[in-house]
Amino acid sequence: MEQIDFKKDFKILNGDFVYLDSGATNQHPHKVLKSVMSFYEKSNANPHRGSYSLCMKATNEYEMARHAVAKFLNAKSDKEIVFTKNASESLNLIAHSFCETLTKDDEIVLSILEHHSMIVPFQRCSKLTGAKLKFMYLKDYQIPEEEINKKITKKTKVVGVSLVSNVLGTVVDVEKIIKRAHLVGAKVVVDISQSIAHMPFDVQTMDADFVVFSGHKMFAPLGIGVLYGKKELLDEMPPFLLGGDMIEYVYEQSATFAETPQKFEAGTQNVGGAVGLRSAIEYIESISYKNIEKMEKEVYEYAINELKKLKFVDLYVPNDRNKRSSVISFNIRGVHSHDTASILDSYNVFVRSGNHCAQPLLRFLGVDSTCRASFSIYNTKSDVQKLVFALKHAYEKFKKYIKE
Ligand code: ALA
Repeated sequence: MEQIDFKKDFKILNGDFVYLDSGATNQHPHKVLKSVMSFYEKSNANPHRGSYSLCMKATNEYEMARHAVAKFLNAKSDKEIVFTKNASESLNLIAHSFCETLTKDDEIVLSILEHHSMIVPFQRCSKLTGAKLKFMYLKDYQIPEEEINKKITKKTKVVGVSLVSNVLGTVVDVEKIIKRAHLVGAKVVVDISQSIAHMPFDVQTMDADFVVFSGHKMFAPLGIGVLYGKKELLDEMPPFLLGGDMIEYVYEQSATFAETPQKFEAGTQNVGGAVGLRSAIEYIESISYKNIEKMEKEVYEYAINELKKLKFVDLYVPNDRNKRSSVISFNIRGVHSHDTASILDSYNVFVRSGNHCAQPLLRFLGVDSTCRASFSIYNTKSDVQKLVFALKHAYEKFKKYIKE
């Protein structure tokens, strides 16, 4: 397929470097940044707080962004969309507000490839309620069906899983996990942060109970996140953060709360971020997920093949090309990931190194840390060639120190 140069849409990518850390945060198209600027220059006021026309304009921008997200995820209603700061806040909200009714007879099941943002809030929930925290482990970097059926049982009340692993690039069979969870009466939280820039997620088709993501992983500004929840679940949940705009009436000693989703949005919200998120959705839709998947796959698979040719490199990617996406973890054998990443940096090739906020996964894999190249729509085969070139030079520098 013909490669289109998307770098031209991103001013920062005019620089003389190769950005391979979109898993950490995507770069932002100029169009998205312009929409944020335009909000501040033409529509800024504090939404829901005044009856003057500029305030209504700001409220309208904010609610239009909510509507765009609802449509993008195919939610039944705008009321199912809560704006947060990021996926971490969304997950904390669920672990606090949905899980507070769990008891010591209940179980929470996560996959071992989860980010700390999923694991740590549920650890606290487990400690506070006595509910047992269990993990589904991997075989060949995938969660096997036997493991799903073994771990998700009648005791399970909540299952948390990412659609794409931020370390391995594994595309998890979330549909199977949701079906199994619903069979035993459990609810499922899906983290789509790592997949949202690359593939669609339809909350109704998948029948997910909760879905979370950070906007900055899909070309939106930093500091805006989303929690999708089925309306009937959100309605039953108590608020997480308390304060302005999430209340109905406040008395000296008590308060009543606004309806879903306002009851979860305490304080002044990141309206500029929400406006940018709407614009990022439009950016993705203008290319279409179908084209994004096709174009990215070509560069991503090319990168895996080129890295496989380097005999001094260990790769940590699933074998099945249909079950992997956008992320490649690797190491120069015998060299710490931070050392490799520093040398790559001296060649202006930017990759992340370390444990990628997934220490339990790395411990399970028996790996201390990895370098991670993560791709987006603007990466090209030429970027991959620069990575390979820099890696060859890094290896030449380290070779004499590597113990066989
Ligand atoms: N979750 C982000 C990453 O994987 C920060 O790099």
